[in-house]
Amino acid sequence: MSLISTGSYAPKFSLGNDHLTTLVDTSSEWIEKRTGIKKRNISAGENTSDLAYEAGKQAIENSNVNLEDIDLVLVATITPDHFTPSTASMVQGKLGIKNAVAFDISAGCTGFVYALGIASSMIKNGIAKNALVIGSEVLSKVLDYTDRNTCVIFGDGAGALVLTKDLNDKIKDIYLQGEYDTAHNIQIQSVNVNNAMHTSQDASTLPKLSMNGGEVYKFALGALSELIEVILERNNLTNDDIKYIVPHQANFRIIETVAKKLGIDINKFYMNIENYGNTSSASIPIALAEMNNLGLLKKGDKIIIAGFGAGLTWGSILIEW
Ligand code: COA
Repeated sequence: MSLISTGSYAPKFSLGNDHLTTLVDTSSEWIEKRTGIKKRNISAGENTSDLAYEAGKQAIENSNVNLEDIDLVLVATITPDHFTPSTASMVQGKLGIKNAVAFDISAGCTGFVYALGIASSMIKNGIAKNALVIGSEVLSKVLDYTDRNTCVIFGDGAGALVLTKDLNDKIKDIYLQGEYDTAHNIQIQSVNVNNAMHTSQDASTLPKLSMNGGEVYKFALGALSELIEVILERNNLTNDDIKYIVPHQANFRIIETVAKKLGIDINKFYMNIENYGNTSSASIPIALAEMNNLGLLKKGDKIIIAGFGAGLTWGSILIEW
């Protein structure tokens, strides 16, 4: 399988740290020092399928694949427009793609890695030939802008890849993991059961993201280390064989700590968190699109993408570009 092209999109409005200090008790210095984030894009009404459409359209335009040849559309998201139809079906409709399998993947901030793993397996098994794989989030619609533990961290955006069947398979290894988080350290609670048979005790009706940052931080350090170590070990590789590691952009400090622990040059980790914040499922494909646009990805380069997040879920993929 080959990775042919990339695309990305972020809403125009960029919310800087200074602006956040007018909404919640925080400071620009605290946010930047503790997370590495300077600004994040926030939707002015565009929903997840709109962002996904823009990123997907760009990835298709950058490829040599015709719309009618795309037979798989996957959208990784934890902020879908609706319960159903899926965001992927909506994107399929907006792009005018006929006769494609389309569905969403919900796997926290690991969503894009899971999605790429699924697309790769479906292509290898002959179920699909050309896939559009997107990570898209409008997290601002589930953020509480009075909760400084969360609203300073997350942002909106979308990234996309077009993949095609190729005997020279560029996806070299896929490592996916998950374990149920009984403490619900990151969650977006949604609609309670209220029906003719039952009245929910919990009055909350609006979905809101909540996070126990300290616990998630500890999980993320272990997960990111494991994701890199397992891929290197299973493929008899060392750090020197890897051109870039593209981690989920959760927090600069998480990445810096793991780089030190594993003895890997921090410059090998591609980071753009300062401009986007944490965009969950979208962070890795946005980073890949940016790297591609900057000409950083050369044919034959080995890169590792590594995602971790709610579920708990974590996963990494070894790609030869
Ligand atoms: N602005 C200003 N001060 C803040 C603040 C904010 N937004 N959030 C917390 N603080 C304060 C706390 O009240 C605390 O003050 P105290 O020492 O007087 O009690 C202090 O800063 C340290 O709080 P703490 O929660 O320990 O901060 P932290 O260094 O752990 O950073 C996170 C908080 C959320 C940035 C960090 O835990 C984190 O990044 N966690 C992982 C999040 C993540 O990656 N999520 C997505 C994974 S997919």
